[in-house]
Formats: sequence, C-alpha cells, structure tokens
Amino acid sequence: MGFVVAIDGPAGSGKGTLAARLGAALGLPVFDSGLLYRAVAAAVLAAGWNPDDEAACVKAARGLDPRVLADPALRSAAMGEAASRVAVHPAVRHVLIDIQRSFAAREPGAVVDGRDIGTVILKDAQAKIFITASPEARAARRWAQLRGQGEHALYDEILADIRRRDARDEARTAAPLKPAPDAVLLDTTDLSIDAAFDAARRIVEAARARSGQA
Ligand code: DC
Repeated sequence: MGFVVAIDGPAGSGKGTLAARLGAALGLPVFDSGLLYRAVAAAVLAAGWNPDDEAACVKAARGLDPRVLADPALRSAAMGEAASRVAVHPAVRHVLIDIQRSFAAREPGAVVDGRDIGTVILKDAQAKIFITASPEARAARRWAQLRGQGEHALYDEILADIRRRDARDEARTAAPLKPAPDAVLLDTTDLSIDAAFDAARRIVEAARARSGQA
C-alpha cells in the first residue's frame, strides 16, 4: 500500500481544502468521499425518490456513474443536507466502500477525506487527522464559500444546517462521525487556512517518519 492520509471531520471544518493542499504538497491524488453521498442523493432526488428510503438509495448507489462526481451542482448546501440523510443507511455505505478503498489502494497512495475514513474505510491509513472547528466558525466559512459560488445563503440558516448535520452524522449507528483512536485532533477554529495547513502537514510528516516512508 502507498502512503494514505485519512482526514475526517464535520461539515465546514475545512477538511476539503486541507485535503486538496496536502495532496498537492505530497504529490498524492485526493478523494472527497462526501461527493459519493452527494451524488447518490442527487440521483435519488432526480428520480423523485425519498432520501430516507434505504432501498431507493441503494439502487441509486449501485448505479452510480463516477463521472458525475465532477458536477459542481453536488456542492450545494441542499445536496449536503440530502447526502447526510442518504448516508444514514448502512446498506448505502456498504455499496460505497469498494470505490473508496480501491482509490486509496493505488500507488503512490492518496489523501481521502470524509466522516469515517480513519474509523471504517481506511483503518490502516498511515496518517489520520480529525479536524474540528466550532459550529460558528464553520458556519462563517461555509457562508463565505457559498457566496463565492454565487449561492446567497443566510448565516443563521447555515449554522442551523451545520448543527442538524453534526447531530445526524454523529448520532447514526452506521459509521458515525467520530475520531479514530489513533487520529490526531486538529482544531482549526482560530487558525487561518495557512496555519491549519502547516499544522496538518506537520502531523502528516510525523506520521510519514513513523511509517518509514520518509
Ligand atoms: O463532506 P460533505 O459535506 O461533502 O458530506 C456530505 C454528507 O455525506 C455528510 O453530511 C455525511 C455524509 N458523508 C458520510 O457519511 N461519510 C463520508 N465519508 C463522507 C460524507
């Protein structure tokens, strides 16, 4: 196995940005696993099905065409909310395991971000980071990001959405959002993106030295 970095954390914690920057710095491809759940949600909604219907979501997950993962529409706030509902179903999570593991299994390795990467999907990852930030800091970042994408969202609504998603992602019985026992916690509430990246890179370099793949 190549060098694998697992990054988990709640919505808006900055894990996507950090994963992209780490991947570029390390020369590793990056996989955003949230896009899988978003793509299943998009397919379910497009078919007029219900995201709370496990059988319908499984059907959509089995028929997933990886090319749709590049669709920018998947990144909307509404799709994040629907993805969180789809992600509750154990059978949906099961269908999506292979695509994530086979991406990480290729040389020279990968940076994979999500909610259960260090705890379930890639338990053997050499580096595991669990990123947190206060709900308010995450809501402020998400608000700025959505505005940048041309979506006009209200801060209060985003904060409520983040709290709802945290509660659902943490409370579900299948692969709930939680740090792996061997993950390093990184709280980015008071960190700029550059400072968070420097901290994440130090965590990864320490893990790389330990794993003997320096
Ligand atoms: O990271 P994101 O906001 O794109 O994720 C959208 C939803 O997908 C998230 O609220 C929960 C779910 N998800 C998951 O359950 N497991 C993952 N590894 C990634 C995302």
